[in-house]
Amino acid sequence: MCGIFGCIEESSKAKKILIKCLNGLKKLEYRGYDSAGIASIENGRILQYKTTGKVHSLDKNIINTKDLSLAIGHTRWATHGAISEKNAHPHTDTSKSLSLVHNGIIENYKELQYELKQNGIHCISDTDSEVLTQLIAYYFKGNMIKALQTALDKIEGSFAIALIHKDFPDTIFASSRDAPLVIGKSKNTIQLSSDVHAFSGKTMKATFLADNEIASITHKEITVYNEEGKKKEKEDSVLHIDPKQHSKGPYPHFMLKEIFEQKINFSKSVDTFLTNDNLHHEIRPILETNTDQILIIACGSSYHAGLIVSSMIEELLSIPTQVRIASELRYQSPALTKNTLAIAISQSGETCDTLGAVKNIKNKKLPVFAICNVKGSTLTRIADHTLYIDAGPEISVCSTKAFSAQLTLLQLLVLHLTKDNLKKNIILSNLTSVKHALDYLLSHTAKIEKLAKKYSLYEKFFFIGRDVMYPTAMEASLKLKEITYLMSIAYPAGEMKHGPIALIDSKLVTIALCGNEKTLGKITSNLIEIKSRNGPILAFCPKGSKEIEEIADDTFFLPNNLDDFFSPLIYSIALQLFAYFVAIEKKTDIDQPRNLAKSVTVE
Ligand code: M6R
Repeated sequence: MCGIFGCIEESSKAKKILIKCLNGLKKLEYRGYDSAGIASIENGRILQYKTTGKVHSLDKNIINTKDLSLAIGHTRWATHGAISEKNAHPHTDTSKSLSLVHNGIIENYKELQYELKQNGIHCISDTDSEVLTQLIAYYFKGNMIKALQTALDKIEGSFAIALIHKDFPDTIFASSRDAPLVIGKSKNTIQLSSDVHAFSGKTMKATFLADNEIASITHKEITVYNEEGKKKEKEDSVLHIDPKQHSKGPYPHFMLKEIFEQKINFSKSVDTFLTNDNLHHEIRPILETNTDQILIIACGSSYHAGLIVSSMIEELLSIPTQVRIASELRYQSPALTKNTLAIAISQSGETCDTLGAVKNIKNKKLPVFAICNVKGSTLTRIADHTLYIDAGPEISVCSTKAFSAQLTLLQLLVLHLTKDNLKKNIILSNLTSVKHALDYLLSHTAKIEKLAKKYSLYEKFFFIGRDVMYPTAMEASLKLKEITYLMSIAYPAGEMKHGPIALIDSKLVTIALCGNEKTLGKITSNLIEIKSRNGPILAFCPKGSKEIEEIADDTFFLPNNLDDFFSPLIYSIALQLFAYFVAIEKKTDIDQPRNLAKSVTVE
């Protein structure tokens, strides 16, 4: 979690390097926005600016700085130590010779801090990152590659680092282990980033650092060393970056832009699926020959996508499927058959818990399929195969289009693999209705906005649903709490009577997701039970649900010709809009809600 950016240019031509570095950092803010900092070298001295809050707070500091030739910067999501300037990166050593930015966790930092103390070196911040900085400085005897090798060898944990040293005014050093770091090169600049989308060039040659590699970067060249300090040839890949993907366009927030993008993404996924029969050729042989169990591993919204699709897998592929939260699974001992297929779902491909669980599964020599959005991310490098959801960069911390693209890809995959041709054809012929439902929904946002205004006055919410509408309710509840900070819980509607109904009163709103035809009658009865106890109800239900309309205080109708498997997509989008408009009323920071970060690279 945390973003690292660096840039370096030929000193005689370098212009506004600090501003360029800040611009790169601003594109990485989705990774954390508790504090920010930037460092450079001016007249043989380390120059550093730090601030709490977002990157733009640094703008004022750099107006009068001269044209420097390199800079490294950091945007932080606090792990070790409070949100303060002292704990913000870059960190420097006691002699102020080097400056370092770090993403990741140094697990043995306490031990190392103690050793440093024994040698008279005292850290002033509460961070593990400063310990690493002091350690490198301690081992530095004139050769930075050697110092890095020795220090990093002592480190347990994950890191991506960039550092500068006053004795090397033309070089940025970098290294990584279990954390992404990519170096991009174009005609006039070399940049270094936690994510390729922060690069300023439209076309760049990219060098992805592998675990424990160390890079020495000047404006002319990138030299990569392996962990024994031997030079290593690395292959470049060419990146084409579309700057439009990083702009909000006409939308006030990335979240709203990304909600609207779901319509086009759905059509794109369906068209690719219908026209490319070889699309899933990698997974088919594994599933058809011997898979007797599927284990889906994910966190957050990706976990909800897994839950929703699991019933479709069981019904149409008849393969027992369990969906496990990665942070739990990694410390459990699941009973897995030797023909288990693991499917790891992750937008970022960098979620630490998902990666940890996947590594455990790989140690058991079981195949791992990744469903991912970010090309070249760590998950895609450790999985046996990857299917990309191609949702485009998701900037808003709150996942919308990645969630729906994961769901769609997995559902289309199940349709592709099922032998139940009758059911398959019915569902396929229904896909056009899904497109129409999306059109309908996205042209009726004003009604959702009005409902959101009314319900934003409440403080507690229950989201209920049955069958696939239950994980859909979990996802809707997550959206609301994440961006509005309102208390919300999701429950299977039928479970309410086993305890949670005790909470119902006139102040607790129930949001009912009634998009599952099979259980429509059942959820209607559950709503009657809630109404009898004076609970306000807002129902999202199929057009023509007369009884629900009579029970609920408010209803939002959705098309009634959707297949039960595809309702979660439409209902989730309706509830994304609801959460968005409540957040507008609450005036929260929608794209970067408090305490969160886009990819959670710590445990
Ligand atoms: O990148 P991932 O899909 O692995 O991320 C998993 C969760 O951190 C993520 O879905 C999170 O819950 C979102 N902020 C939800 O909107």
